[in-house]
Parts: sequence; structure tokens; C-alpha cells
Amino acid sequence: MPVLMSDAGTCGVRPMASQHNTMRVVGGTDAQPGSWPWIVSIQVPWRRGTGHICGGTLISPQWVLTAAHCFINATYVEMWRIVVGASSLLQMGPEVQVRNIKRLVTHEHYNNRSQRNDIALLELDQPVQCSYYIQLACVPDGSLRVSELSPCYISGWGAMEEGSKIRPAILQEALVHLIDNHICNSSQWYAGAVRNTNLCAGYQQGGIDTCQGDSGGPLVCKDRTADYYWLVGVTSWGTGCGRAHQPGIYTSTQHYRDWILVHMGLRPAGQTSAPPVSASGPFQKPRPIPADASRPGSCPFPRNKLVDFFALLQELLQVIKESEV
Ligand code: ARG
Repeated sequence: MPVLMSDAGTCGVRPMASQHNTMRVVGGTDAQPGSWPWIVSIQVPWRRGTGHICGGTLISPQWVLTAAHCFINATYVEMWRIVVGASSLLQMGPEVQVRNIKRLVTHEHYNNRSQRNDIALLELDQPVQCSYYIQLACVPDGSLRVSELSPCYISGWGAMEEGSKIRPAILQEALVHLIDNHICNSSQWYAGAVRNTNLCAGYQQGGIDTCQGDSGGPLVCKDRTADYYWLVGVTSWGTGCGRAHQPGIYTSTQHYRDWILVHMGLRPAGQTSAPPVSASGPFQKPRPIPADASRPGSCPFPRNKLVDFFALLQELLQVIKESEV
């Protein structure tokens, strides 16, 4: 059944994950290629090394959700690179697609001192083609009970230790727990700096966390009942990296869903009630809707997968038929 449910409106699926038997970020491990098919690397080509500065998440074939603070003092943004479908940033195979930024939309009320509204959208110059390595993440609406979700994961090409200037070539991933904002705001922790538009995730004892360079990247959690993932947070800030009582702070995507839809042009400004019928794709729970590759939120890959499946099935039936004497 879940196979048939994945069609034009598909998001949050990990086509490669079934081939991994386990499943940095600080305290993480190398992710297998294709593990997090919605993560992108935002790069400034004239910086040393790979030029990676932030992560981001693909939420439609032409839009990436990331953090506003990645663009403080940014220049020549139209010349930056968005690398999609990569695992190692040093050895990029044919599955990688590179795009430029057509438009940068940072939140109009982003505050770089408080990190309030640390969210931004990037429109790509060309849509990406979805594949085994490239998929969209699902953006939750207000009805999803995010705090009840688990397991949750962070991923990124950021520093593997606080203060380190070295960046890993291979995407790092780690399992984290969502921590109640009240706990995160206690006096020995963040003492009130965490807003209700934030999520707090990591470990009370520290050790596993996002770090510099992971910003803008995804905090995802598996759906309670089905095998797909929700983009619940955008990596925003933290004191140090991996310190006890100082977990990572993420912008809660659920709180910015209307802002995202308006700026992607999927909903007229001011309208905040039920989503229009045309707002498909990553903004609804995956449900069986007819395939339509022209829809803005669609990622028509699973349909190809279904075609592949039936071709294989046909082949199998042929073999069985031929073996019958
Ligand atoms: N602001 C950082 C960046 O620009 C991300 C910090 C996340 N820190 C943390 N301790 N979780 O990459």
C-alpha cells in the first residue's frame, strides 16, 4: 500500500535507505550515499576548500529552505552554488545536480542579534530532477504533533568539533531527541532564549549536536505511523557545540508554513486558513492523488519507480512462464 501512496505529492521518502543496514555534526557518523536525499550544500565558490557554508533542505524541485543567518553580509548570491544529491563534497558523482540561486527570500523580520525568524527560502535557477538520491522533505502543517515524533535526525557537512576549522567531506548524520522548550529554557540551559518558534534537540549530556556549517540544514523526524520523514526544524544556533545543557536550537518549520507557502507563491498573502487544493506536494500528508508532473510541489520520481517495478514484475512472470514445462 505505501508504494501506491507515493506519487505526485510525494515527500519525505528515502529510496536508498532500505539498502543501508543501520541506519557530523559533532558525535555523528558518515551517512551512506542517498540517506538524506533532501539535504543540499550551499557553497560560495571563491571560498577555500569546497566553499560549503551552510546546509539547506529541498522542499520542492525549485525551492530550498535554509537559515536567514547564512546570508548575513552575503555578496554575489547569484554566483553561489547549490549542490543537491551529494554525499562526499570532494567526489561528486553523476547523481549530483548543481544549481544557482535565482532568488533569495530572507524572513522580513529576521533579527541577527536574537536569531528570531532565522529562516530563508532560495529559488533555484532550474528545478532539480528527483531520483534515488534527490527527494523533497515534507513540511508539516499545524496539525502535526511534532513533539511526539521519533526518531529524529540531524545531518550536515559542518564542523565535527567545536571550534574546528576542518570540515568533513562526507555528510555526517546523528540521532537526536527533541527536548521540551521548557527544559531548554531552564536557568542552567538557555535561560529563556529559546522561543516557541524554535525546537530544541540533542542530549542533556551533550556530545551529539549540530555545529558551525550545519546551519540551515534539516532536523527531520520519522512519521509516527508510516515510513517517511518530516522536516521539523532548520539548524539555527547553539552555545558552542555538543556542550551539556546547551543543545542545538532549530527554527520550527511548522510555525513558518504559511510564510513559506506565501513566498513560494502557493498561497496569497493574508490567507492563513485551510490550504488551497493546488498546494500539493510537501505540504500535505502523502495521500493517493493522481500523478501530475506539472504541479509545483511534485517530484515525479516514484512514478518512474513504479514503472520500473512493473517492468521487473513482467520480466519475472516471463521467467516463471518459461520455466513451466
Ligand atoms: N550557527 C551555526 C552555523 O552557522 C550552527 C550552530 C548550531 N550549533 C549548535 N550547537 N547546535 O552553522
